[in-house]
Amino acid sequence: MFVQYHENQHRLHVNTLPRHNYFIPYGSEATALAGDRDASEALTPLKGLWSFRYYDSLLDVPESFPAGADTPDTIPVPSVWQMHGYDHHQYTNVPYPFPYDPPYVPLENPCGHYRRSFEFHPETDSVCTLCFEGVDSCFYVWVNGSFAGYSQVAHATSEFDITGLLREGTNTLDVLVLKWCDGSYLEDQDKLRMSGIFREVYLLRRPARHIVSYQVNTRFNEALSHAEVTVDMHSSGPVLPVSYRLLDPAGKAVLEGIAPGGRPVFSVDAPRLWNAEDPALYTLLMTVGGEVLCERIGFRVVDVLDGMLRINHQPLKFVGVNRHESDSSLGPAVGLPEMEWDLRLMKEHNINAIRTSHYPDAPLFYELCDRYGFYLIDEADQECHGVTRVKTRPDEPDAYNLLARDADWLEPMLDRVQCMVDRDINRPCVVIWSMGNESGMGPNFDVMLQWTKQRDPSRLTHYEKASYPPGNAAFNWDDLDVFSRMYASIEEVDDYFARGFLRGKPFVECEYCHAMGNGPGDLEAYFRCFHRHPGCCGGFVWEWCDHAAPREPSVDGTPHFGYGGDFGDTQNDGNFCMDGLVSPDRKPHTGLKELKNVYRPLRLTPIDLNAGRFSVHNYLDFHRADELLELYYEFRQNGRTVAFGLIPAEQLTIEPHGDAEITLPVPDGLAQPFAVYFEMQLKADQPLVAKGTVMGVEQHGTAAIAPVLPEERCAVIVTEETARTVTLTGPDFTFVYNKITAAFDALTVKGRPLTERPMSVNTWHAPTDNERKLKRDWADFGYDDLRIRTYGTELAAQADRVLLTTRFSMGPLAKKKVLECSVCWTVHVNGRLDASFSVHKLTEWPALPRFGVRLFLPKDRTRVTYFGIGPWESYADKQQASVKYLFSDTVDGLYTEYLRPQENGSHCGCDLLTLSDGTDTVSVTGHDFSFTALRYTQEELEHKAHADELVQDPSVVLCIDYAHNGIGSASCGPTLDRKYWLTGDFTFAFSLVPGPVRY
Ligand code: GAL
Ligand code: MG
Repeated sequence: MFVQYHENQHRLHVNTLPRHNYFIPYGSEATALAGDRDASEALTPLKGLWSFRYYDSLLDVPESFPAGADTPDTIPVPSVWQMHGYDHHQYTNVPYPFPYDPPYVPLENPCGHYRRSFEFHPETDSVCTLCFEGVDSCFYVWVNGSFAGYSQVAHATSEFDITGLLREGTNTLDVLVLKWCDGSYLEDQDKLRMSGIFREVYLLRRPARHIVSYQVNTRFNEALSHAEVTVDMHSSGPVLPVSYRLLDPAGKAVLEGIAPGGRPVFSVDAPRLWNAEDPALYTLLMTVGGEVLCERIGFRVVDVLDGMLRINHQPLKFVGVNRHESDSSLGPAVGLPEMEWDLRLMKEHNINAIRTSHYPDAPLFYELCDRYGFYLIDEADQECHGVTRVKTRPDEPDAYNLLARDADWLEPMLDRVQCMVDRDINRPCVVIWSMGNESGMGPNFDVMLQWTKQRDPSRLTHYEKASYPPGNAAFNWDDLDVFSRMYASIEEVDDYFARGFLRGKPFVECEYCHAMGNGPGDLEAYFRCFHRHPGCCGGFVWEWCDHAAPREPSVDGTPHFGYGGDFGDTQNDGNFCMDGLVSPDRKPHTGLKELKNVYRPLRLTPIDLNAGRFSVHNYLDFHRADELLELYYEFRQNGRTVAFGLIPAEQLTIEPHGDAEITLPVPDGLAQPFAVYFEMQLKADQPLVAKGTVMGVEQHGTAAIAPVLPEERCAVIVTEETARTVTLTGPDFTFVYNKITAAFDALTVKGRPLTERPMSVNTWHAPTDNERKLKRDWADFGYDDLRIRTYGTELAAQADRVLLTTRFSMGPLAKKKVLECSVCWTVHVNGRLDASFSVHKLTEWPALPRFGVRLFLPKDRTRVTYFGIGPWESYADKQQASVKYLFSDTVDGLYTEYLRPQENGSHCGCDLLTLSDGTDTVSVTGHDFSFTALRYTQEELEHKAHADELVQDPSVVLCIDYAHNGIGSASCGPTLDRKYWLTGDFTFAFSLVPGPVRY
């Protein structure tokens, strides 16, 4: 067998060329400017179908490899083999997928043999390099049967000089990719584990004397009105003279020059600065050694002053997300369309920053972030979270620092940071270097931080686990620029500043508001927290997308996505990978709508509502409000728009972070209650987002509706009582009240059933992912099976109504009761039913999932109108994207899909609800009630593992609720804020009206 380097953390790269900044040489200025690297005269793309063979084990690879090895299959490059039917998917978060025995990995190590041929015509005085942008986890290369080299670090570029191995005509490339290597101990990121050549491969033909690397350095004067640029270049031999031209962001040449000494130096007056809102890029074209190099330059400074992180001297907050390279059919092998799609969605949702969790992305991604404007925390391909599960004795202390303090692992860890910094050194979008994620803390990180700071003093450094364990005595904070935490509670952030922040470091939440399932519910609270501390530079929501892979072939063409455990992966972390703001196929979740509106560009505060006076705060960092936005308003009363218009642009000349007052023309005679609704729209097309896109909404005043309940009639209600029931018969209805359940078994109006099954008092909902810990308490305390016990029903007949009052309690099997309640049902002669509950919860903890009643309506009552908080699902703490108004929807439209089903689709703050089949209507009136109207029962939502397995109920399941327990983000984060717990004492009233109501 050939030499083995893959179980040796000191043989990382064999025969690779020195690391350098990413660039592609071109043969002419025209092609260089066009920037399509596949069209470069120097580049031969090697993407496409390669022939392939998958081996379950490295032990099955022939001794004589690559000779004697055949490749009967084909596979696309780039791709991962698990997406092509080889091996199987596995989702593991923290635990290593193999026994901990570094640097050894299992002998039965799956691998893939990739082979392809290509034509080549060697030229004298030129060299040919073979470049891989990403291979997971490591690979050996042969050219024409001769060993060319070895490399690892999945998300790093590896380049080999293969000039000497090439021959005229057809050449053959053999690549053996191993699933695991010593590097896998440092690549234990929380993701679906996939393998193969997942990024592009190409050849570069270059003159023998060529530029190996270059770095663009910029120095500004204090006012940022003048920039001095130096380009430090390194060539493969003696110095190469450079001639260069600089084009401004509009493409106009602004200067040119010749640097005989190979070091262009020039200055730019009044440079247009680069920032996420205005990603202005200059273009530097350099002709050197017969090649043209094209570098985009963004003039910007990042620094910390008085504990505040600043871009171009403006303190700002990152509205960030953590993004994995992930696609439901490509896995990590994402290309331009997938990247642009993500960036478009981000721009549309007010996101300005990305943490490349937890490894450097493909080089192309950085070019797009430069072009479209995003601030990046570029993160090294470094995570050894699995060490926390490594214990040899039950009493052994936490082993988090095992590798971080092991000098024998310094070299591979430092290498990972160097691979990142050296490659991305020229990218303006990168403002912070991150040493990696969840790898404990120890001297290795001191060295990595120190190296980074010396290599690039122009950017900031980040490593979240630097604070682990607290008070790490040996750690020198000098080389770390930001204090980072993940999932820190608001109290913790407040406390950091209350105690005087740590050595003046800005605070960043590198992960917060875990967006798993129905959630997050605490974005607004974090927004307020970030903004009350000037030293807090914002945060990065965990995470951008749900990760999934196809679960089974789907018959109807709709993808059936799977998560951990769906692929025969017995060691798995379930649906913990389904924690994104967008679905695997990029449908925005309601959590993303929340994030968008929390971070809307403007916020308004009424000064005098009746006079139409508001103050406006501009949250844009670099633009006056009127430069980017138009602000529309609407006066709303009783569910209708009474006036609307556009705020004149002159009123919006509000400086970045500034305030101004605006006045709206209030319609004559408009009296309270009324609401004013605002919409912020994009004023002009931007590269990814169209003019007119709504960037935020807001509503002030009182949104109210005045339903007119049907007239009472003069008639009597006949009652008939048995041990269990009271039957009430009015002119057009028969209602059967169940004294044992304190609710109605049957409601029949004009001979037609209003409900199809008994109504019940309902305290349960299908637990959300954010309730994954709480639901253990619910199970322990029996909240998943509360039994009702009534203590008697009193009947009181009045002129046009009958009152039924029942006292009851609810309690679990074998345990004490958890609540006491009294309900008064009033049955009116016209069939209206009023409910009035008075609830006394006996213990504070745990909170109730919900409180209300459940009805089963005929299945065609599907047209829904509600006056409440919409249009997106809304809960006590998750309603930032919505406002209170009149909305129409359907039962299907109200359902909000989560791949792992759970409570969804509620609307809170409702005063009116109607459900109709076009002929018959039932209405609910009240004050601030919640409802869900779905085709699925809570039991169905709770017990099915995937949305595509849900079976519809024969009825429309209508729940009229006082409230649900709040949403929060406790799936990985602080417990739900006490103020959103559904507990304590409360009263709840509503009316059920057979028929429509006017308003
Ligand atoms: C963090 C980690 C992420 C992810 C998240 C939970 O601890 O950095 O990679 O695992 O938790 O979804
Ligand atoms: Mg982790």
